[in-house]
Amino acid sequence: MTQPTAKDKPAGSHDMWGGRFSSGPSSVLEAINSSVGIDQRLAEQDIAGSLAHAAMLAACGIISSEDARDISAGLEAIREDIRAGRFEWKTSLEDVHMNIEAALKDRIGAPAGRLHTARSRNDQVATDFRLWLREACARAEQGLRRYQAALLDQAETHADWVMPGFTHLQTAQPVSLGHHLLCWAEAAERDIGRLADARRRMNESPLGAAALAGTAFPIDREMTAKALGFDRPMNNSLDAVSSRDFALEALAAAAITAVNLSRFAEEIVLWCSRRFGFATLSDAWSTGSSIMPQKRNPDAAELVRAKPGRIAGALQGLILVCKGLPLAYLKDLQEDKALVFTAFDDLELAIEAMTGMAADLSFHREALEEAAGEAYSDATDLADWTVRELGLPFRDAHHVSGAIVKAAEAKGVALSALPLEDFQAVEPRIDARIFDVLGARASMESRTSFGGTSPARVREQCAALRNRLQEASR
Ligand code: ARG
Repeated sequence: MTQPTAKDKPAGSHDMWGGRFSSGPSSVLEAINSSVGIDQRLAEQDIAGSLAHAAMLAACGIISSEDARDISAGLEAIREDIRAGRFEWKTSLEDVHMNIEAALKDRIGAPAGRLHTARSRNDQVATDFRLWLREACARAEQGLRRYQAALLDQAETHADWVMPGFTHLQTAQPVSLGHHLLCWAEAAERDIGRLADARRRMNESPLGAAALAGTAFPIDREMTAKALGFDRPMNNSLDAVSSRDFALEALAAAAITAVNLSRFAEEIVLWCSRRFGFATLSDAWSTGSSIMPQKRNPDAAELVRAKPGRIAGALQGLILVCKGLPLAYLKDLQEDKALVFTAFDDLELAIEAMTGMAADLSFHREALEEAAGEAYSDATDLADWTVRELGLPFRDAHHVSGAIVKAAEAKGVALSALPLEDFQAVEPRIDARIFDVLGARASMESRTSFGGTSPARVREQCAALRNRLQEASR
């Protein structure tokens, strides 16, 4: 067998460091080493970074303006090819960076070789990844704003609908359905804040850190940072190429968001079950069963409920990849992108699904109101009345109310249907005014403390959120 000559050998990453190497990589090395199947998602960011770098090199007199012009034109043409799906990605070229650089060489020849001056793939990939993740966080934040808007519309419509509030999943006290829905909008507000914090903190430019130590070329890192929309260049070149805590932080924010979404998703599953019967999802958000013709399944809600498994799993995965890594760049870090990409894909889809379901849910007023009045959910209101009107210490009032609940339970009636004599048998000073505070609706309406569930308070919170959303959209 004759050795293939350099001429008929397919283009490969070994060509890039050809000087020192006499044979190509084993096919298994190529398989484990190649990341282009995953990091080609960074193509837009990679080209933006290279355009900024080339312009800076020319501005600093490191390459000629003619070369910079050719490089830019070549990169823009490659970008068109990629957008049009015409670009041929080669596994043998390892990653997105070398695929694009090799294509540039094919297109413009020698000047392509000058682009990588004062740069390394180490600062290049860190730059691309920050640019990508910055956008992904912003998209998730915008998605969460739309989710909040859907919750708000429903909360406004249902501000004075009464439903059971639960603790331990046991009927506790009546609450407004609008209040319950706004709770998830509050959680989303914090999720948005965490994503925005992560986004702001990651918005520093690694570009120009080169392999790890900076460069002897007279580059202008401020210029590339500004061109790419970063707030400033990173202070430490070692940090610039080796840190991935920006990705961990974004994943942590994503994982917490997923957990919050999964909790409402679980409530949707419960509410749409026959046992609860609080709500229905339309056909657009229900699936059937292949065997049981009567079924309507809330699959999307169940899948959102499962997403923390994947997203918190990605966080855990990247934490373990990064743990114990010394400075500076190490190939382990290449494993960061698949985890982050799938986690943010999952997150965006989960947010969209929750937005769709939040808007779609139709609620069953009577079932909610009936359930709200069950299980002596107004027992606290009875106790509170005896504190207010009779001056009982709350601990004694609790006892009195408990004894009255017991009597009502024995008769199988609600407190509001229990004869006054039965109240008086436990506490003789109770009078007929007690009936004003009993029942689910009266209970809900009475809770007017700030942040409480009375419809008036809920409407206040709706208006405040409406303002926040308007502010955020400006
Ligand atoms: N594909 C690599 C990554 O994602 C790019 C950096 C490679 N650097 C290197 N020195 N081999 O991390």
